[in-house]
Amino acid sequence: MKINSNKIVILSGSGISAESGLPTFRDANGLWRNLDWRQLASPEGWRAHPELVLEFYNERRALAAQALPNAAHRALAELQSKYEVVIITQNVDDLHERAGSTNVIHLHGELMWARGTSPRRLRRHIGAAPIRMGDLCEDGTQLRPDIVWFGEAVEAMGLAEGEMVDAGKVLVVGTSLTVYPAASLTLYAHADAEKAVCALELDEVPSGYTMLQGTATAHVPALVKRLLDEVA
Ligand code: APR
Repeated sequence: MKINSNKIVILSGSGISAESGLPTFRDANGLWRNLDWRQLASPEGWRAHPELVLEFYNERRALAAQALPNAAHRALAELQSKYEVVIITQNVDDLHERAGSTNVIHLHGELMWARGTSPRRLRRHIGAAPIRMGDLCEDGTQLRPDIVWFGEAVEAMGLAEGEMVDAGKVLVVGTSLTVYPAASLTLYAHADAEKAVCALELDEVPSGYTMLQGTATAHVPALVKRLLDEVA
């Protein structure tokens, strides 16, 4: 596979939105430290108590709508002025888009979208609006968050893998790399690509990746400045 030195792919996780005030999942005060994902982010939980699931996502959606992109989101958007940038995110907030990134692949869905519960999966942009029991899709089915729950297929995985393989530079930001298949994307980077990972801590640094230990706002703007200065 030929490498594209002008292409940068970012794989982001909840850690990049932490400094915008949104909770991560597995850090000390992460969502899954206090809540049970089986009840709130799985098809089984939806079947058992849909109103509880709707309320969980209504609260997260309202919080995300009030949050602002931080310096890391903004720096990644600036990269687009001189590079072909693809953002592959596990996040369901829209902070990358609101910072100005235009090529964003949401592996785990989007908080600001709802979809029907028929196989047609008709989706609708709802912004910060809540979803209630009885809110129906145009096909008459109950609306649900357009989120990929545990156990559901990550439909964008093939697209994401295809974007990774020829990237000249790969930056992983704010993810524990513990949820699959998303975490396997690090393996799709070209052997000759420049690879780095930014996190507060990682159980295991992927082979060939430089660890940038610390916050996204401490590392990403400085890295972006270097990358922009490299291109005349
Ligand atoms: N700057 C950079 N990294 C940070 C920061 C920060 N300010 N704060 C936390 N981190 C790092 C942590 O060190 C950790 O490695 O972000 C990572 C957060 O990991 P998780 O909480 O596991 O979040 P994430 O990897 O995005 O979870 C993946 O799990 O629950 C599912 O679908 C959900 O997309 C989510 C997926």
